[in-house]
Amino acid sequence: MNDAAFQQCIHPDCAATFDLGQSLYACPRCGSLLDVRYDWDRLRVPARLADFEARWQTRSQPLDHSGVWRFRELLPFAPDAMKVTVGEGQTPLQQADELAAFIGHDAGRLFLQYEGFNPSGSFKDNGMAAAFSHARMVGATRVACASTGNTSASLALYAARCGMTAWVFIGQGKIAFGKLSQALEYGGRTLQVAGDFDACMARVQEATDRLGLYLVNSVNPFRLEGQKTIMYRVLESLRWQPPDWIVVPGGNLGNNSAFGKAFIELRELGLIDRVPRVAVINAAGANTLYRLVEQEGLAWNGGCCDAGLVDRYYANMRAAGRKASTIASAIEINVPVNLAKCLRTLDATAGVVREVTDDEIRDAKAAVGKFGYGCEPASAASVAGLRKLLADGTISRGDRVVCILTGHLLKDPNATVKYHAEMGRELSNRPIPVPDDIEAIVAKIQEG
Ligand code: F0G
Repeated sequence: MNDAAFQQCIHPDCAATFDLGQSLYACPRCGSLLDVRYDWDRLRVPARLADFEARWQTRSQPLDHSGVWRFRELLPFAPDAMKVTVGEGQTPLQQADELAAFIGHDAGRLFLQYEGFNPSGSFKDNGMAAAFSHARMVGATRVACASTGNTSASLALYAARCGMTAWVFIGQGKIAFGKLSQALEYGGRTLQVAGDFDACMARVQEATDRLGLYLVNSVNPFRLEGQKTIMYRVLESLRWQPPDWIVVPGGNLGNNSAFGKAFIELRELGLIDRVPRVAVINAAGANTLYRLVEQEGLAWNGGCCDAGLVDRYYANMRAAGRKASTIASAIEINVPVNLAKCLRTLDATAGVVREVTDDEIRDAKAAVGKFGYGCEPASAASVAGLRKLLADGTISRGDRVVCILTGHLLKDPNATVKYHAEMGRELSNRPIPVPDDIEAIVAKIQEG
């Protein structure tokens, strides 16, 4: 196996290393998260990011067509024969001038990275392409995840294509129907646990330990390697000029962790000279990160973050019986597993965290849809967060901003229809009842 790539504990006092042949979801020595690391001097990396554009000429090759593997020299852990792709990552950046005007941002300065265009309709496919490649490398046949919906949809799709059995742990009544329907249709064996996402996460980790399942939640460091490529595609669309800000919803905090790692590595490799600032947006009803970082002052601190503060926070949360609750079901999470890596991203990018209410999320989602993009509730937290950051002066209207739309509009149609049926929302668009009578219909259309 390739020994220029390895796994490493992110805690600086431990920093234990492990080879690629092991399936690990935490450091066996100290329990911290793991990274996939590379000895770049022994690997071949293109001299300029623009060199990757040559792959547009050879798109008939599946690995060059994949928006993940097109950048394979920047996640070089899998031999080509093991790489899995179903055509993920065809997700161009969209300049959103009308939306910018609507929220008070300058024309030409707001871009949407619509990851809903992926095969299973969310950004998770970037991660699955990488994780399933590693699963193949270690000979896995049974894969598993806990999910608020999108991970399970993506897992079930990739498992079906790879001939593996998918075990999906979902909370009862906690998953949008679009997502559940995908997991079922792709043949995922779906365990509806009588608990919330955090309970599912704990149970799937126990089941993985006992049964040797291959776990593809974002504690799997290979998954995050795939999600780095979302940033490579953003940079490519901006002609390799980093934007000022990336604004991304935060749930289990894997995505922003992957983005931070991508930028840290690109800077180390000398491929960019400036990193964008990353803003992570929590739902106010699931705001562990916001409270810990912006209110309690939790920070990366060279990898030695204040574990006591975090433990006390969770102890208080449990004692008070506080449970996450938000319309953005994808990010309804109390205990985000990638907290430490997220702190690293915030540190490396001078990042910030904000929280947005469900009403702010719903109005932002309708605005994203009104101008012809569309996304699910959790994704709209990014645009609602941008509004907040503009209002509090953290982001200026001339800054170049990329909001990540993490999931497709059709993932959660109930949330959309409910919004538009409601009176008095900022953008509600109620169906108009008319009799089955052409004169009445014509009259209604002429009214406008
Ligand atoms: N947006 C969507 C649409 C999601 O599905 C998720 C996470 C997030 C944002 C948050 O991303 O966890 O990397 O901070 N969904 C997971 C799931 C938890 O199970 O599908 P994160």
